[in-house]
Amino acid sequence: MLYSDTVMDHFNNPRNVGVITDADGVGEVGNPTCGDMMKITITVEDDRIADIKFQTLGCGAAIATSSIVTEMAKGMTLQEAAAITKQEVADALGGLPSPKMHCSVLATDGLKAAVEDYLAKQGREPISSKIESADPNFDPHAH
Ligand code: FES
Repeated sequence: MLYSDTVMDHFNNPRNVGVITDADGVGEVGNPTCGDMMKITITVEDDRIADIKFQTLGCGAAIATSSIVTEMAKGMTLQEAAAITKQEVADALGGLPSPKMHCSVLATDGLKAAVEDYLAKQGREPISSKIESADPNFDPHAH
């Protein structure tokens, strides 16, 4: 089978779909490989992700990775959430077929962008410089 049961479950029943209208942070990213897009909105309490929702205009793998990333990030500190790697997302889904690994970038980049948007609105320093080493594929200058 191409996709794990967990991927199919998140594809068929995506969690936390939608947009938080009074969000503290908004992340909107596009996937340079395929042109798909995703938007993540978060609310923050005590430097933790209190609520999170996503909207994805993308493939099934993008929907599944976005869905699981919202579950992983809820309750995390901003630092922890921004440091989630696409490999961790794929592992949490029970693996992704390698041609679809790039799809998980939308989810992690969207989340990072939402965290950075929140920090910028608060006039605080970006987190990205501190987590660069955690994910060698993350380029803080890409956005
Ligand atoms: Fe575009 Fe998967 S093909 S995100």
